[in-house]
Amino acid sequence: MSAPLLRAEGLHKAFGSTAALHDASFAIDAGEVVAVMGPSGSGKSTLLHCLAGIAVPDQGRVLYGDVDLGAASDAKRSALRRTDFGFVFQFGQLVPELTAVENVALPLRLNGVARRPAEATATEWLDRLEVGDVARKTPGNISGGQGQRVAVARALATRPRVLFADEPTGALDSLNGERVMELLTEAARETSAAVVLVTHEARVAAYSDREVVVRDGRTRSPELTR
Ligand SMILES: Nc1ncnc2c1ncn2[C@@H]1O[C@H](COP(=O)(O)OP(=O)(O)OP(=O)(O)O)[C@@H](O)[C@H]1O
Ligand SMILES: [Mg+2]
Repeated sequence: MSAPLLRAEGLHKAFGSTAALHDASFAIDAGEVVAVMGPSGSGKSTLLHCLAGIAVPDQGRVLYGDVDLGAASDAKRSALRRTDFGFVFQFGQLVPELTAVENVALPLRLNGVARRPAEATATEWLDRLEVGDVARKTPGNISGGQGQRVAVARALATRPRVLFADEPTGALDSLNGERVMELLTEAARETSAAVVLVTHEARVAAYSDREVVVRDGRTRSPELTR
C-alpha cells in the first residue's frame, strides 16, 4: 500500500491559552474527498491551515509526500502552496480590481504562464464552472454564487494536487451551494485532486467520500463515536 498524499500526526496548536488543536491527526489519499466536520470553534480551520502549511503546529508533523512541512523553509512552503495546493474560502476572496478571468488567470501568471495562455485556460475553467458569461466583470458586479464559482475555477486552474476548501458554500443559499459542490467535486475528480472540505453542513459533507469529526481540537472518524 502506498503512503497517503497528505498526512498529519499528533498536531497541537495553541493561541495563547486556547488549545485550538489537541492531538489531531489526518490523512488523505490522492483523489479523495474528505469532509472535516465539527462545531464552531472546534479547530477545523486551524487543522486546514496546518495541513496547507499556512500555519505551523506547535507539536506534531504534517507530511506532504515525503516533505515535512514544519521542517521546510517558508519559501518552500509558499512555493508548494502556489504549485500543488488550491484554496477556496467562505467569501471568495477574489481580487476586487481584477475581472473574473484575470482573477482565475492570476495564479497561473504567478507560476510564470504568459498572459494569453493563462487567460485561455482561465476562460475554459470559467465555462466549466458555468460562469463564462461573467468573465469580463469584476467581483463587485457579480452574485455571491457566481463569485464562489469563480473562486473554485481559480483554485483548480493550476491543477493542484490538494484543494483546501473552508466552508466554500457557507455564504450561499442551498440551491447555489449544492451546484457549487457538484461542480467542485466533479472538477476535482476529473483532475484527481484530493479535497479537504471543511463544513458544518451535513448536505455539503454528503459530497465527500469520508468524514472526519473535530471536537475540542481532537479528530475522530464518526464511526468510532456512534
Ligand atoms: N488567530 C487566532 N487567534 C486566537 N485564537 C484563535 C485564532 N484562530 C483560532 N483561534 C481559536 O482556536 C479555536 C479553534 O478555532 P478554529 O477557527 O480552528 O475553529 P473552527 O472549527 O474553524 O470554527 P468555525 O466553524 O466557527 O469556523 C477557537 O477557540 C478559536 O477562537
Ligand atoms: Mg473555521
